[in-house]
Amino acid sequence: MRPLLLLAVLICFHCILRKCFCTSEQDKVLFIIAATQEQVSLLQNISSHNETVLWQPASPSLIAVKTPVHLYVRSSSVTRVTELLRAHRFSFRVMLENTQNLIQEQIRNDTTDPKSGGMTYERYHSLEDIYHLVNITSQEHPDMTKLILIGSSFEKNPLYVLKLSGRRGPVDKAMWMDCGIHAREWISPAFCLWFIKFALTFYNQNPDITTMLDEMDIYILPIMNPDGYKYTWTTNRMWRKNRSVREDSSCVGVDLNRNFDANWCTTGASSNPCSNIYCGQYPESEPEVHAVTKFLRSHKDSVKLYFSIHSYSQMLLFPYSYTHEEIPNHAELYELVQEAAIKIRRHYKNQYRYGSGAKTIYLAPGGSDDWAYDQGITYSFTFELQDLGQYGFLLPPNLISSACNEAFAAVKTIALRVIEKL
Ligand code: ARG
Ligand code: ZN
Repeated sequence: MRPLLLLAVLICFHCILRKCFCTSEQDKVLFIIAATQEQVSLLQNISSHNETVLWQPASPSLIAVKTPVHLYVRSSSVTRVTELLRAHRFSFRVMLENTQNLIQEQIRNDTTDPKSGGMTYERYHSLEDIYHLVNITSQEHPDMTKLILIGSSFEKNPLYVLKLSGRRGPVDKAMWMDCGIHAREWISPAFCLWFIKFALTFYNQNPDITTMLDEMDIYILPIMNPDGYKYTWTTNRMWRKNRSVREDSSCVGVDLNRNFDANWCTTGASSNPCSNIYCGQYPESEPEVHAVTKFLRSHKDSVKLYFSIHSYSQMLLFPYSYTHEEIPNHAELYELVQEAAIKIRRHYKNQYRYGSGAKTIYLAPGGSDDWAYDQGITYSFTFELQDLGQYGFLLPPNLISSACNEAFAAVKTIALRVIEKL
């Protein structure tokens, strides 16, 4: 009896230790390639199980032959999923082992303690902290900022836009940038906050930044999907959509980047409320989307330049994503993103792909950039920031500054060129 008891204690202790320190009990991300159409169907089946979350592409319907798939697999399903993949002779490898450690790292140290000053922008922030940061920034720079409430989310969280202006006096041109349309893309709101801090700090020190602010008002929406973002902090780190509920379905959330009135809900979006690319009940059905479109419609005459910030995959995209057809100024926008990508490669040694959305990734209708373009904002861009999948959505805090610096270089390059043109 005694040795048995000892054994039981040892095994239990072993398990506790493993849970804390080993990677074997953790969720994993698999890199998978489907070689044939048959494997595509199999993978669509496997990934539709709820113990997995697709990182790339965003939905099973978008899985294609010989195109890398990044699949997040919950620990409880790792054995079953890898066995299935092996049995069907898939080419695959583990891309990320220690997801829980990375998640811990991303939520660590989340305080807006003023004593830790310089570090604030190299950390991820909870929704409450984002509101707090934006608020104190506007109070610290009353001459250059204005806080504008443009609406509220499904769960009634406020949607604040921070307007940045130079001190040289009123201008008639403006740029818009939104972050955090997709909840799990944490580097995106981190970039908007970083952009605000950087622009205000280097105004009147760096000539490019001074020009940008003196020539244009800059409207920044740091977090367009507050409900989803909050949910990624409290409940499910891999959540993408907003958190709107409807009576006739138990599935929650609309993909806000499929809900704009731009060839809405055609190929590349889903009318199934359970899909990660669900387009919603009608265009602009979601309060977050409606707030943005209402604001931009009422500022149509001034806003000339639109940016939407996502992650990951390192791409600089422009319209259209809803059709393979080229926009009238395709060549012009192509030159702009090309110049930005070359800058990033030269100064930061990172590769960004660039081009129109439909040609560079996949058809994705109902997106904000296409909608803005069709409203007459002919300089319209979507950026996908770092990385290429090494960490994916779990980009460690120590990479925030490099991701933001290169993204800033791209925004700045394009903004200065557009200012010259206008
Ligand atoms: N990854 C983004 C998405 O799937 C791409 C956005 C490109 N633009 C667009 N309008 N779909 O939403
Ligand atoms: Zn996104």
